[in-house]
Amino acid sequence: MTVVVLGGAGYIGSHTVDRLIEKGYDVAVIDNLITGHRAAVNPKARFYQGDIHDRAFLDEVFNKETNVEGVIHFAAFSIVPESMKDPLKYFDNNTGGMITLLKAMRDHNIKRIIFSSTAATYGEPKQIPIKETDPQIPTNPYGESKLCMEKIIHWSDLAYGIKFVALRYFNVAGAKADGSIGEDHHPETHLIPIILQVAAGERTGLKIFGTDYPTKDGTNVRDYVHVVDLADAHILALEYLKAGNDSNAFNLGSSTGFSNKEILEAARKATGKEIPAEDAPRRAGDPSTLIAASDKARKVLGWKPQYDDVEEIIKTAWNWKTSHPKGYNDRGEA
Ligand code: UFG
Repeated sequence: MTVVVLGGAGYIGSHTVDRLIEKGYDVAVIDNLITGHRAAVNPKARFYQGDIHDRAFLDEVFNKETNVEGVIHFAAFSIVPESMKDPLKYFDNNTGGMITLLKAMRDHNIKRIIFSSTAATYGEPKQIPIKETDPQIPTNPYGESKLCMEKIIHWSDLAYGIKFVALRYFNVAGAKADGSIGEDHHPETHLIPIILQVAAGERTGLKIFGTDYPTKDGTNVRDYVHVVDLADAHILALEYLKAGNDSNAFNLGSSTGFSNKEILEAARKATGKEIPAEDAPRRAGDPSTLIAASDKARKVLGWKPQYDDVEEIIKTAWNWKTSHPKGYNDRGEA
């Protein structure tokens, strides 16, 4: 039996492919390599380069991969500020791409999908920590595009019997402990990799977006989860569906919130670098505080995150950064 991973050359996808292979699964990866990296894909996985919008391409893959036990779908754009500027790019790729994929799954009789949703589907939460049953009212097109995906999957389950698990990620960080794969975005927009670029001397300083939020120190509060722990949750979710359980949605976070200034301090300790920073205006679309209630994933999926210390998480990202200063470019790849 084969697990097909869409977006398996991306940051979270490549770590999940790696974990699947380590656990003995047979894996096929689909990625258009627009934001992903071929070198990030474990060589034991079969690789198909193509786009989720391309129905003929998906048919070709599913005609070759005839024994698919489930699909894990990461292939989406995920930059909140970009989505504010270009919402149609997000609805087209994320929501539209999901429709094409589900049609192909329906026609090839593939009945299980695990997919990346996001804390951004909740918008500005009414209560902290956020529970799976809380209202989903996104404050940006990225979150809205993912919420649409959740809704489309729900109706596809009822109509075609495609079972799903929606995993609502909070803030993902870190890298595989041996530093062989990690986060490599162009341009980089995420807090921890940007801080590490400053630590490495590639940027002059960090801009802290917004210092007047109603939080402990005025900066946004986020809930960080290690990418390998997140990867493992996907495998547990697949096994959960294989065991005959019904479709479901789970938050994936650590249930602990860190402000942007606290992350900066933790990164200074993890790297031993000074890391200059300055206050800057708010960034559009940022909710003030996002912290997950993630007991449901622990209880129902049996998820046991291994990393519970944000400094340790940052150290794994720093290990990747210092061993690959130019990301995957160090392996001769753009
Ligand atoms: N930030 C800065 N300076 C920077 C970059 C980021 O202050 O140079 C701040 C942001 O304003 C925000 C925090 O750092 O307050 C975290 O920002 P990220 O861009 O790292 O992450 P987001 O919280 O915006 O988004 C991430 C994922 C989304 C997901 C969301 C859910 O990218 O996919 O977490 O929490 F939806």
